[in-house]
Amino acid sequence: MEKKQLAEADVRRLCAEAVQMREMSYAPYSHFLVGAALLTKEGKIFTGCNIENAAYTPSVCAERTALFKAVSEGYRDFSAIAISGGPEGGPLQYCAPCGVCRQVMAEFCSGDFRIFLAKSEEDYESHTLMELLPMRFGPENLET
Ligand code: THU
Repeated sequence: MEKKQLAEADVRRLCAEAVQMREMSYAPYSHFLVGAALLTKEGKIFTGCNIENAAYTPSVCAERTALFKAVSEGYRDFSAIAISGGPEGGPLQYCAPCGVCRQVMAEFCSGDFRIFLAKSEEDYESHTLMELLPMRFGPENLET
C-alpha cells in the first residue's frame, strides 16, 4: 500500500522554513550558510542551521541540528527534510546532505524518507534517502 504523499503545501512550507533558517546559521569559517526543516510524522517541524566552531571538527550541519533537536524532544519518526544551502551573500544551491548527515538520517528514517533540496519554496529537487544512501549500514545490521 503506497503511503500518503506529502501535500504540495506542506512541502512548500518545509522548504520556506529551511530557507528562512539559513539566517540563523553560524558559519564564520566557511561562510556557507545552511538551514534545514524536518517534518515529523505527527506533522511537527523542527528546524536547524549549521553551527561552526573555531576548532573546526566540533562543527555540526543544519540537518543534524534539526534531527538532534527532534530526537532530544522525543520525536523519532520523520517523513521529510528540506535543506537550503549556499554561500553567504550568494545564490542558493540544491545543497545535498553530507555523508555523515545521511548516516544519521538512516538511523531514524526509512528509505522512502523524502529529502528536498530547496532554493526557494517553489524551486526544489525531491529525493529519497534510498536514492542518496543506497546499501546503508543501519540499526537492522546489529539485530541478532
Ligand atoms: N553543511 C551543512 O550544514 N549541511 C550540508 O548539507 C552541507 C554542509 C555545512 C557544514 C559547514 O558548516 C558548511 O556547510 C560548509 O561545509
